[in-house]
Amino acid sequence: MPFINDVLEHNREANAQKSHADAASQQRLTTSRFLFEPKVVMQHLRARIIGQEAALGEIENMLNVVKADFSSTERPLSVTLMLGSTGVGKTETVRLISEAIYGRPDAFCRIDMNTLAQEHYAAALTGAPPGYVGSKEGTTLFDIEAIQGSFSKPGIVLFDELEKASTEVIRSLLNVLDSGTLTLSSGSKTIDFKNSLIFMTSNVGARQAQSALNYFSRLPKPAQRLCERLAEQWGKSSQHVIEKALHQQFDPEFINRIDRILHYCPVDQHWLPQLIDIELNKLNQRLRKQGCHVSLDAYAIALLSRQHDIRFGARNLARKFRTQLEPVLARFILKHPLQKKLLIGVKHRQLSVMAHPVDS
Ligand SMILES: Nc1ncnc2c1ncn2[C@@H]1O[C@H](COP(=O)(O)OP(=O)(O)OP(=O)(O)O)[C@@H](O)[C@H]1O
Ligand SMILES: [Mg+2]
Repeated sequence: MPFINDVLEHNREANAQKSHADAASQQRLTTSRFLFEPKVVMQHLRARIIGQEAALGEIENMLNVVKADFSSTERPLSVTLMLGSTGVGKTETVRLISEAIYGRPDAFCRIDMNTLAQEHYAAALTGAPPGYVGSKEGTTLFDIEAIQGSFSKPGIVLFDELEKASTEVIRSLLNVLDSGTLTLSSGSKTIDFKNSLIFMTSNVGARQAQSALNYFSRLPKPAQRLCERLAEQWGKSSQHVIEKALHQQFDPEFINRIDRILHYCPVDQHWLPQLIDIELNKLNQRLRKQGCHVSLDAYAIALLSRQHDIRFGARNLARKFRTQLEPVLARFILKHPLQKKLLIGVKHRQLSVMAHPVDS
């Protein structure tokens, strides 16, 4: 049967070519020592961080450069500063990157500058002489494994609330950003940051920028847009105000060592339905072990979106879930353990579990 033999021969050849192409593309893929895929990390981030496209675009650039694996071996893989007011997604971005790369949102080393402001911790960083109180404790602040990562994964470090750090601490950070090493005060230990993605966050200037925005938001929409455009032209936009505050707070040597400065915008009222969806997903994941699933009707979504206060960002929403929704839900679950599909609506202007048609 020549025809069948031809087909078999053709398939054999096609398969051989395909596996050759697969091997070649595998080869291309493995030229980076890093196993994470920037595309996958970004999908994870874009599904969970709302409204911060400009900042996420910069994160994508950074991840691509790191993945391409030609970064200098003399300094950290990247140094990123995230600016913006409270509850806008700065720390959440780092948690999600950690989750995408390590499968755990807390697989990074968070160094709280507030804690570091305490003298004995600062001593660990700034090189107080051995024997100085707390000079040995310093090591507990640094999770070396999380900082250094591994051959195939970058370490992740977050210096949180930078504006709380003292001038000495900022000065000792210069060396970390510059050469990727930190020698602890005892002199016996050096921490290597050369395989680290360094993130820093700060609220600097956010309050000043916010007060202009609050003022604009009281104007009618067209006037608001005009004011924002004029502010932009006169160099008084939120971004300008924040950058000015940044330069007032930190020395140029420090700012100069930062690769990327990301501006997170205040949480807009329009983002609330998507943010509610994200919070609801988180709640449903936690309810999995009870076998329950909750949904919200349009009235419940409207109630949760009401009285959004731009000053508190998305944190306010998480708080509403905890204080307004969870108690109502808990009471219902304890009383009706067999009902697994729950619909939340509004009764007497309060969130309430409605009878659900599926399994009531
Ligand atoms: N843009 C956003 N998209 C989705 N969720 C967000 C966003 N911003 C904040 N959140 C939610 O709000 C919570 C608080 O956000 P996050 O911890 O990132 O605040 P932050 O910007 O670091 O503020 P702070 O300066 O107070 O630390 C997060 O757990 C997250 O669920
Ligand atoms: Mg934070």
